[in-house]
Amino acid sequence: MRLAHLLLVVVASCSIISCSLGYRPVVILHGILSGAESMTLLVQEILAAHPGTIVYNCDKFNGWYSLENAWRQVDQIRDYLNEVGKLHPEGIIVLGYSQGGLLARAAIQSLPDHNVKTFISLSSPQAGQYGTSFLHLIFPDLAAKTAFELFYTRAGQYTSVGGYWNDPHKQELYMKYSEFLPLINNEKKTSNSTSFKMGMVRLNRLVMIGGPNDDVITPWQSSHFSYYDENLDVVPFTKRKFFTADSIGVKTLQEAGKLIIVIKPNVHHLAWHRRKDVIHEVILPYLD
Ligand SMILES: *[C@@H]1O[C@H](CO)[C@@H](O)[C@H](O)[C@H]1NC(C)=O
Repeated sequence: MRLAHLLLVVVASCSIISCSLGYRPVVILHGILSGAESMTLLVQEILAAHPGTIVYNCDKFNGWYSLENAWRQVDQIRDYLNEVGKLHPEGIIVLGYSQGGLLARAAIQSLPDHNVKTFISLSSPQAGQYGTSFLHLIFPDLAAKTAFELFYTRAGQYTSVGGYWNDPHKQELYMKYSEFLPLINNEKKTSNSTSFKMGMVRLNRLVMIGGPNDDVITPWQSSHFSYYDENLDVVPFTKRKFFTADSIGVKTLQEAGKLIIVIKPNVHHLAWHRRKDVIHEVILPYLD
């Protein structure tokens, strides 16, 4: 009788312990010109550190499909996050790498009643991109200075990159032609602007990771929402209008202590998800 009682207590307390150790499910979105397989090491490290975590390594828009129009991709990622979120009413974590982090942010902002608790942006061009190293991955012969002639057209907007190409010398054309970044940053007001902000402030935590040796995201500070002015000086995000006017709620998150900026030097763009030490230092601490 006593033993049975004791066993019952042990069993009960074990299940409570395992509950309190339970980690939220993680959804991972890969970068441009790659697929879910490129994120395998990250999945392995998450499972090794936090056994039992449910990880969704999204394989939508892999390879060349990752160049499709940004909204086309965001619509599907949004539906995917919505479905996964419904399976886990306790809340999920979303991590997007490079372009995947920008598309994931737009998807989260497009879901005003999502249950994403933590969003991790891993070296993503959140304020746009203006530089050749990234460009040449995809368009080897295009020069940054003249890329606007391609991207700021109806045809250029068919590519994902056209949607977040942000030429500091051609801001009028950017505002006129870009159908993606100025919308999700509420620089261009639309009927969706209010929900874009609601989706953002619903996060419990926004983690933005990037660093000065990235060599692909240009300027690298775009990973933290900072960006070039017309003289190519980088304006810190806290001084940019989208922040001071709290257009998309990043200021609200910061004031609530929910914005985490991670700056890590000596990590190349292609290493953020491929180096164990980096994963352990900048990603795992936020997966609880
Ligand atoms: C607002 O969002 C909906 C749903 O994603 C979309 O169909 C519509 O085109 C958007 N409207 C504008 C003005 O961007």
